[in-house]
Amino acid sequence: MRYFIETWGCQMNDHDSEKLAGTLETMGYAPTEEPSEADIYLLNTCTIREKAEEKVFSRLGVLRQVKQQRNGDMVIGVTGCVAQQEGGQIFSRAPYVDLVLGTQALKQLPEMIENVASHKGHQVNVGQDPENHLFPPHNISRRSRIKGLITIMEGCDNYCTYCIVPFTRGRERSRPWEDIVAEAQRLADNGTKEIELLGQNVNSYYSTISFAELLRKLNEIEALEVVRYVSPHPKDFDRDVIETLRDCPRIATNIHLPAQSGNSRILKRMGREHTREHYLEKVAMIREVLGNNCSLTSDFIVGFPGELEKEFNDTVTLLQDVGYDRIFSFMYSPRPGTGAIKHGDPVPQEEKSRRLQILQQTQNELQKERMTGRIGRDYQVLVDTLKPEDRFPVAGRTRDNILVHLEAKGAPERYFGRNLAVKITGAGLHTLRGQIIED
Ligand code: SAH
Ligand code: SF4
Ligand code: F3S
Repeated sequence: MRYFIETWGCQMNDHDSEKLAGTLETMGYAPTEEPSEADIYLLNTCTIREKAEEKVFSRLGVLRQVKQQRNGDMVIGVTGCVAQQEGGQIFSRAPYVDLVLGTQALKQLPEMIENVASHKGHQVNVGQDPENHLFPPHNISRRSRIKGLITIMEGCDNYCTYCIVPFTRGRERSRPWEDIVAEAQRLADNGTKEIELLGQNVNSYYSTISFAELLRKLNEIEALEVVRYVSPHPKDFDRDVIETLRDCPRIATNIHLPAQSGNSRILKRMGREHTREHYLEKVAMIREVLGNNCSLTSDFIVGFPGELEKEFNDTVTLLQDVGYDRIFSFMYSPRPGTGAIKHGDPVPQEEKSRRLQILQQTQNELQKERMTGRIGRDYQVLVDTLKPEDRFPVAGRTRDNILVHLEAKGAPERYFGRNLAVKITGAGLHTLRGQIIED
């Protein structure tokens, strides 16, 4: 019996797929690379913007044909945020789907599959297992040998007015730090070099210790090279966390500080906690403690309902004032059930698209300069990718998360999983090129 899992959306979904894969493997299923060979096909979905959701239904149309070719002998499951949001309504649009499993009851999968097998009809579970975030680590089927994902918290309590995540991922809950450190230690003992801590608001982590204290504990694990974390909320980057990044060499120094807008009135309408001024104070504090030894990245939404041209311009000037190493920018997309839905979607599509282009052009110019500024500097690069045919056959990321392509002497394989000292020799818009200093 074979399974195939297709994953869309964020790193939390990637990791949920590893949990679902592990669950299927304990039931005796083996992975396949070929969709038409799958006895079980899971589509792990995302609904952050309308487009993402539409893509799910058109993909399901294709899976329907695969199922027909197999004479109906394939279990199709929809999991993830669309499953959580739509629940049983998915069956009315796509009746060939057999099961719908939300984001917070992953351990129910075996029971649902058994029910489908014994012809009990459509199965749906969008309930909340209060222990979902305590999924047993030994049941996770990990895709990478050197990089391990670790859930530290789940959920979001912030209810930004544009965002569907609080509805699809539920309330915030954190895992006990002892479990997290034990999982990290076990991964490190088995050869993992990099761990990535996961949570919808990863730095809102709180149990008997704070997020900064958790980072300091993980920094003690000697076999690890880098500890990363996604996705953070600006309100929880306090001085303690930033000083921890300065003092702990294993903790990654890319600071993702999602601003969403550079205008305080729009920020208020978005339900974000910061004003432009607070945000800039935070950036100044980060620069004071870390100087140039970090990268800054952000997310932005253009065309939020009521965003005036001059308010959009405040977002453009924020890019200039901060100096980001990279941004992720999106056109506003109304999501059902969110606070902003009552405003409609008054900014026309062409206008949103124009604003997006201006924002991205502004960033590209600033970014080119910042990337070029790295030429001649030395970095540690943890090698996680090999492309033996390329002129730069080895690639990896700096501690502040910039992708670097490296020239290599001899067989590239010998560099895999190593944290190398590197000199930067060239820069593109998104990636750097470099030479290995010491072999
Ligand atoms: N928890 C993270 C956000 C995760 S969603 C945080 O608070 O930063 C990733 C990004 O998608 C958001 O930062 C936002 O920029 C974008 N986004 C979320 N909802 C959106 C919507 N309705 N329309 C457009 N972009 C949206
Ligand atoms: Fe969405 Fe805001 Fe929560 Fe981030 S903090 S997941 S943007 S509601
Ligand atoms: Fe998408 Fe859900 Fe992640 S909506 S971005 S998969 S939390």
